[in-house]
Amino acid sequence: MVPKGQGKGTRSYGRGKHVRVKTARGRKTSSTRWLQRQLNDPFVREAQRLGYRSRAAFKLLELDDRFGFLKKGARVVDLGAAPGGWSQVAKDRVGKSGLVVALDLASIEPLVGVNIVEADFFSEQSESLLESKIGTQVDVVLSDMAAPSTGHAATDHLRIMSLAEAAYDFARPRLVKGGTFVTKVFQGGADRDLLKMLKRDFAKVRHAKPKSSRVRSAEMYMVAMGSHIKE
Ligand SMILES: C[S@@+](CC[C@H](N)C(=O)[O-])C[C@H]1O[C@@H](n2cnc3c(N)ncnc32)[C@H](O)[C@@H]1O
Repeated sequence: MVPKGQGKGTRSYGRGKHVRVKTARGRKTSSTRWLQRQLNDPFVREAQRLGYRSRAAFKLLELDDRFGFLKKGARVVDLGAAPGGWSQVAKDRVGKSGLVVALDLASIEPLVGVNIVEADFFSEQSESLLESKIGTQVDVVLSDMAAPSTGHAATDHLRIMSLAEAAYDFARPRLVKGGTFVTKVFQGGADRDLLKMLKRDFAKVRHAKPKSSRVRSAEMYMVAMGSHIKE
C-alpha cells in the first residue's frame, strides 16, 4: 500500500506512552534494548500509522520538504531501498507520470508503481538491470545504502563512504542537467573527496541531518542539486 502523502510543512510526532520491555529468556540484552527503542520511537509509531514500511520514510519526506527535488513526473533511482519507505515517498511525490526504480540486495515486497531490482549494487549486472527499467537518463538518484554496522566507527565510516562514492559513479553519467543526487554519509573526514566532486558538478550542495535521523547516529545526508556535469 502506498500511504497518502502527508502535506509538506512542519511535522510533529507525538511522544505517546513509554513502553518498558522485560528481558525474556533466550533474548539478548541488546535485542531487548532494540525492541524497547522501537516501541518507544515516535517515528516507528507514525510510520506504522501512515502505512510506511520504515521510519526512514520520514528522512526523505523531511529532505524533500526542505529542498523540493521530487517533482511530478521525475525519474528516480532509489539505491538501498529495502524495505521500501523512501520508494513509497518518492512514488507518492513524483505521481503517476513519474518513475521510481528501487534496488536492494535484500528483497522488497511489491509496491504499486515502483519497479524493483533485487541485486547487489556492486554486481556486474546491476547497472544494466537498472537501465532496463529506467533508461539512461534520470532526474534524481537517491542512495540510502548502508552496510550492517561493525560497531567500529572508522570502519563503518569508510564502508558508507565507499557506497556513497559508488552511487555517485553511477549517477554522474546518467543525471540530466539540473538533476539531484542525495546520499547518506557519516560525519567525519572521509567525505571530503566526494564533497569536492559534488561542489564541482552541482549548483548547490548541502549537508542535512533530518530530525528523524537518530541523534546518536553519525549518519547525515548530502543533497546536491542543479547538476551541470561536464564529461
Ligand atoms: C538504511 S537501509 C535503507 C532503508 C530504505 N531507504 C527505506 O526507506 O526503507 C539500507 C539498505 O542498504 C542496502 N544495501 C547495503 N549494501 C548494498 C549493496 N551493495 N547493494 C544493494 N543494497 C545494499 C541494505 O540491504 C539495506 O536494505
